[in-house]
Amino acid sequence: MFSNVNKMNNINIINGVNLNLLGKREPAIYGSQTFEDYLATLQEKYASVANISYFQSNIEGEIVNQIQAIGFGKQPYLGIILNAGAYTHTSIAIADAIKAISTPVVEVHISNVFAREAFRHHSFLSPVCKGMITGLGLLGYDLALQYLLHLPEQNILNKA
Ligand code: DQA
Repeated sequence: MFSNVNKMNNINIINGVNLNLLGKREPAIYGSQTFEDYLATLQEKYASVANISYFQSNIEGEIVNQIQAIGFGKQPYLGIILNAGAYTHTSIAIADAIKAISTPVVEVHISNVFAREAFRHHSFLSPVCKGMITGLGLLGYDLALQYLLHLPEQNILNKA
């Protein structure tokens, strides 16, 4: 399926504020699985094609630092999958960090933000991300991964 990808394809998943509580927090909205458990299944599923690393913080500036570290670090990254939690709706700083790097960023939300309170309908991040997946549960991270893994293939096709 992903013929042009190899194990050197680094992908970083960044979860923001309150997402350390997945599995315990409002399970009717966010489900009952911990992110660590879900991550282990993702890492296993994509073990032959990608290195999936994970970062979580409740602190806005640490998320900015992580985005900068990925974007300007020595190791090449295929992309970032970012669920900034409530910072999505408030953070110009995270949007600026995404704008500053050339690494593609896919925005993910577990719940359907458009089916919830009006304050969740606006994202400072969507305009500077490649795209956004919302409302598909944890599967959204898997779908974002599949998108990022298709990028090298697209680049090869574009150059052909
Ligand atoms: C969320 C949606 C946000 O509105 C909320 O603040 C979160 C989680 C989601 O994954 O559905 O913390 O990003």
